[in-house]
Amino acid sequence: MNTSRSKALFEQAKKYIPGGVNSPVRAFKSVGGDPLFITRGEGSKMIDADGNSFVDYIGSWGPHLFGHNPPFIKEALLNAIEDGTSFGAPTEMEIKMAELITQLVPSVQMVRMVNSGTEATMSAVRAARGFTGREKFIKFEGCYHGHADYFLIKAGSGALTLGVPTSPGVTKGNAADTLTADYNDIESIKKLTAANKNEIAAIIIEPIAGNMGVVVSDGDFLKELRAICDEEKIVLIFDEVMTGFRVAAGGAQEVLGIEPDLTTFGKIIGGGLPVGAFGGKREIMEKIAPSGPVYQAGTLSGNPLAMSAGYAALSFIKEHPEIYLQLEKISLYLESGFKDNLKSVGKNYAMNRIGSMMCMFFTEEKVNDFNSAVKSDTALYGKFFHEMLKRGVYLAPAQFEALFVSTVHTKEDLDQTIKAHKESLEAIL
Ligand SMILES: Cc1ncc(COP(=O)(O)O)c(C=O)c1O
Repeated sequence: MNTSRSKALFEQAKKYIPGGVNSPVRAFKSVGGDPLFITRGEGSKMIDADGNSFVDYIGSWGPHLFGHNPPFIKEALLNAIEDGTSFGAPTEMEIKMAELITQLVPSVQMVRMVNSGTEATMSAVRAARGFTGREKFIKFEGCYHGHADYFLIKAGSGALTLGVPTSPGVTKGNAADTLTADYNDIESIKKLTAANKNEIAAIIIEPIAGNMGVVVSDGDFLKELRAICDEEKIVLIFDEVMTGFRVAAGGAQEVLGIEPDLTTFGKIIGGGLPVGAFGGKREIMEKIAPSGPVYQAGTLSGNPLAMSAGYAALSFIKEHPEIYLQLEKISLYLESGFKDNLKSVGKNYAMNRIGSMMCMFFTEEKVNDFNSAVKSDTALYGKFFHEMLKRGVYLAPAQFEALFVSTVHTKEDLDQTIKAHKESLEAIL
């Protein structure tokens, strides 16, 4: 595979951009080699600067539920741009967007738009603190909630991949209010809530984790978590930046049947543009400025371009509920192919999937929390990643990430992927 143009671009990029990239995991550091520079995305494919084409399973790290550049989102954007890109004043589209979100996710009674998942989670925690008058919050080891200081403590995703789950630059003061619990372990929550009685404002969790690979929470675990939050008057925040509109129109909370007090969104909600949102119970959301005293703001929040792309994506979801069955079918086909391949090479590697989120770990132990996830042989994943890439399949360049299937992955794409998977396993084992 010729990657000379990408290599040259990477050398240039490193002169002006830290590590040559604008988000760390893109740099291929954990899998080795140099990143590919992408020039175009179309449907299920991405094309790099050397003209190589890949079946893409990153989907921009989750937003592209309908593949790259879906015509209906492109059309919405082209229409919106005719009238201007941003006004810093209210628009009708923001009402339509908020109303649609509350229809799709019933636990959300009011919503505030922001520009990224990080903004959504940090604002949700602030809202919970303002509402309860308490300062501490609990997060789970291996969950990632964006890069705000107080989340970068035992964090997942790129922070985990690059070996900095607790980042330099986070002050002791900031870290002191972040308590960490073990995923799927209700005892760890009971201990923390008992030791910090009336001090915990919020518990934030990825109800289906996608940042230590894919790990699903046990049904009973979330139920008990909900009950503890009710009892202790703690705000339960579901971080659905990844799972929102991905695992169901109503997100993980619909699939798992548990309602949080606040929910955070990102990725799909922006239709491929930089958008996030947080919302939930009216009594909490009314504490947000200007209706309440908890300050939260954004120059470009709710801008017409982002709203038109997001509204097009969510409207499509509302009008086509059958896409989740379609995604399940496509993803199951892929998973079954992968499982057959594993059998044929005599391996029983853990494979976690929920809907169109999937992850293969290079460990034969069950993966249901951070400690079991990190048993995966990441060096082997790196080799596997490059073998797949050589065969035209673009996976996440890091073990602790999800593989995302879109509605436009064709049977041909899937068969190519399954064949590549088999040959790649044979090449590395
Ligand atoms: C669950 C979750 N929360 C928050 C974030 C942060 O979102 P953003 O990268 O848009 O700031 C991510 C990003 O991957 C995420 O997966």
